[in-house]
Amino acid sequence: MTDLLVVGSGFFGLTVAERMAEEHGLDVTVIDRRDHIGGNAYSERDAETGIEIHRYGAHLFHTSNERVWAYVNRFSAFTSYVHRVYAKHRGEVFPLPINLGTINQFFRAAHGPGSARALVTEEAAELGDSTPQNLEEKAISLIGRPLYEAFIRDYTAKQWQTDPKRLPADVISRLPVRYTYDNRYFNDTHEGLPVDGYTALLERMADHPRITVHLETDFFTSSEFGKASTVGNVPIVYTGPVDRYFDSSLGDLAWRTLDFEREVLPVGDFQGTSVMNYSDLDVPYTRIHEFKHFHPERDSPADATVIMREYSRFATGADEPYYPVNSPDDRDRLLRYRELMPQEPDVFFGGRLGTYQYLDMHMAIGAAISTVENRLVPRLVGGDR
Ligand code: FDA
Repeated sequence: MTDLLVVGSGFFGLTVAERMAEEHGLDVTVIDRRDHIGGNAYSERDAETGIEIHRYGAHLFHTSNERVWAYVNRFSAFTSYVHRVYAKHRGEVFPLPINLGTINQFFRAAHGPGSARALVTEEAAELGDSTPQNLEEKAISLIGRPLYEAFIRDYTAKQWQTDPKRLPADVISRLPVRYTYDNRYFNDTHEGLPVDGYTALLERMADHPRITVHLETDFFTSSEFGKASTVGNVPIVYTGPVDRYFDSSLGDLAWRTLDFEREVLPVGDFQGTSVMNYSDLDVPYTRIHEFKHFHPERDSPADATVIMREYSRFATGADEPYYPVNSPDDRDRLLRYRELMPQEPDVFFGGRLGTYQYLDMHMAIGAAISTVENRLVPRLVGGDR
């Protein structure tokens, strides 16, 4: 029998496995119900063009956590890619996040930082001191109505399939506006993409003599590594959905999912950039990714490109859970699931599905390192078993 069973081979599960095997000498078994490792960060070469595709949506690595940065660099060098996003609105393309360039283009003006800030502050005062009752009012109180209606309203409606007037105000806490022309998407100290792709990085994390990976192995159906035969017999790090672990006994936690429509086009360059948001309701998708722009340093076909249109909707049973809906009901349910966890002292819940929260990759890795140091090592290596 193994020393530790890790359910899920995403960044959280692989970080735990690698640390416990390499640093603490445990034999670790990793299972995943999919036919590949890496969870949602998995990437693959498009068969026709050789272009690297992020199967579960675009993944941009960024972090200000020095420890996490040093950790991932042990498994891969990173390119100097800097992420920038543009938005198409009423036949015009604007830079995002909203910055001085966006404001001046939108208002056909030449504001400096001070007058742009004064303009946005004035627009944002429209609703006075009243407490925002819904997402629309909250957004208006942050950036004013014109910018909200152009860049947030319809995009949010498409993301949530719901009029923002009917979404709770706390779906957004802030809407960044930059009063400079800086349109770097992320503010972090470090940013880049693994030079030879995410899957190569993830495979190197799992490539350890003490780590065994079993793919197409579901924790709820496997005879050898399933819940029935392992809980109580081996410590488990579980990164699958928390409600599913408890047989959804307190009800399902709600998620949004995405549908991706991939297409190879016979042109060298479709949109001139990696991500274009579509802000208006007359276009049903939220954005288009064009993958060759993530790696301008690579050779790619001069006469072909791969694009992926992204559509957003509420998840039902068999859909991939992508973003927690996090309604008050969900939060209440999550608290009640957490109360059940102490019944399972040798099961450690982690990762985005196991904790029901959106985690960027660097957050999942950081959380996994903390779980190893603060929970697993004291319990499994410290001798108090
Ligand atoms: P992850 O979901 O990756 O892995 C969980 C694994 O558990 C999966 O492989 C699953 O198959 C497996 N599993 C579940 N149930 C199981 C069962 N019953 N039995 C066996 N295995 C089971 N982050 C970032 O830093 N930059 C970015 O640009 C993006 N972009 C992005 C786009 C989209 C659309 C999404 C949804 C997410 C991102 N992310 C991101 C976040 C990133 O995907 C996230 O940080 C990692 O996936 C977290 O890794 P985990 O290991 O927690 O989960």
